[in-house]
Amino acid sequence: MFDVDKIRADFPILARKVNNRPLVYFDSGATAQKPWAVIRRSEELMVEYNANIHRGVHHLSGRMTDMYEAARERVRRFIGASQREEVIFTSGATASINLVAYAWSAANLGPGDNVVVSEMEHHSNIVPWQMAAMRHGAELRVLPFDDSGELRMDMLSSLIDSRTRLVAVTEASNTLGTTPDLRPIIDAAHAVGAVVMVDGCQGVVHGGGNVAERGYDFYAFSGHKLYGPTGIGILYGRRDILEAMPPFMGGGDMVDRVTFAKTTYAPLPLKYEAGTSNFLGAVTLAEAIDYVEAVGMAAIEQHEQELLRLATERLMAIDGLRIYGQASSKCPIVSFTVDGTHPYDVGMILDKLGIAIRTGHHCAEPVMTHYGVTGMCRASIGMYNTREEVEALAQGVERAVGMLR
Ligand SMILES: Cc1ncc(COP(=O)(O)O)c(C=O)c1O
Repeated sequence: MFDVDKIRADFPILARKVNNRPLVYFDSGATAQKPWAVIRRSEELMVEYNANIHRGVHHLSGRMTDMYEAARERVRRFIGASQREEVIFTSGATASINLVAYAWSAANLGPGDNVVVSEMEHHSNIVPWQMAAMRHGAELRVLPFDDSGELRMDMLSSLIDSRTRLVAVTEASNTLGTTPDLRPIIDAAHAVGAVVMVDGCQGVVHGGGNVAERGYDFYAFSGHKLYGPTGIGILYGRRDILEAMPPFMGGGDMVDRVTFAKTTYAPLPLKYEAGTSNFLGAVTLAEAIDYVEAVGMAAIEQHEQELLRLATERLMAIDGLRIYGQASSKCPIVSFTVDGTHPYDVGMILDKLGIAIRTGHHCAEPVMTHYGVTGMCRASIGMYNTREEVEALAQGVERAVGMLR
């Protein structure tokens, strides 16, 4: 039974005040708050177990190495990868995507090839591909979305061709909330021998993952949006693809033998984990996964979808308010502008009321360009939000509009 009050008690920050008002946090899409289980685990690791992994014969190093590898196994199960070698710890989704954009592209992208990205991607799933395309003389193609926020699947056949090497697409848009049906994209890419990089940053929090079953070739997400710590993220890659790729960063842990004449590399997954990994972050991320799974992904989803419906309905009733992204399947993100107001001013007034939303281009400038705006307000919903908070948000927006117009 999903009990939002019980969940809220697990998140100490929610009890604090901002500007003398109870904090109302609608910025979980940027980073989610942390439950006690995650906070305590992080502290416990530093108090009781800190020691570098993979390198020591001493007790603590062995313990931490075991916990780190157990965390990898935890992530593997959570995202539905078939082998532990396919789960690479990185510093975050951006690092994961850049790793692929360098290492995979070095072996697979050449002049005349093309990479397809969707118009609704976060900059993290655009710019690395733009840079890779420039380095290798390839073309960057864009799969557009329509005004309701649905990807234009009808254009797949004109964009994906025999020279397409990779398609980069999000599981859930951080601006429009759209959770596109990736099946036709994956099928079209695989039909021409291309691979698919799925950005799971928002999706993994809202029913994403299942990488093997869904046929993802690469998958990236960050721990901090999944109620875990910052500085840790995941790259999933299909084993055969990762094995055929050259290493990315060189250094400790990613090698087998080093001589000045020649170096051989460690097998997966360490081949892509050069240097001291964020082992504390990895183990704490596993704790966050335990937490969300104990609450129940399906129950969280149901609660958040109910709040999404309520927020959409309530905000739409405000005169001159426009919601961007009304796709048939959405994660709980509502982006909007209100006629005669600037998003930044709305955000500032809400902040005075203790309500945290995000304003600006949300690292998705092409989405802003699509609608001809420079920025939007964005309320992103987490498992701990309530109906009362949605009402407070709507009343806050009404008040802001009253003051600004
Ligand atoms: C859809 C999406 N992709 C990628 C990122 C980048 O994540 P990070 O900054 O944690 O690397 C974000 C962060 O907001 C996001 O929402």
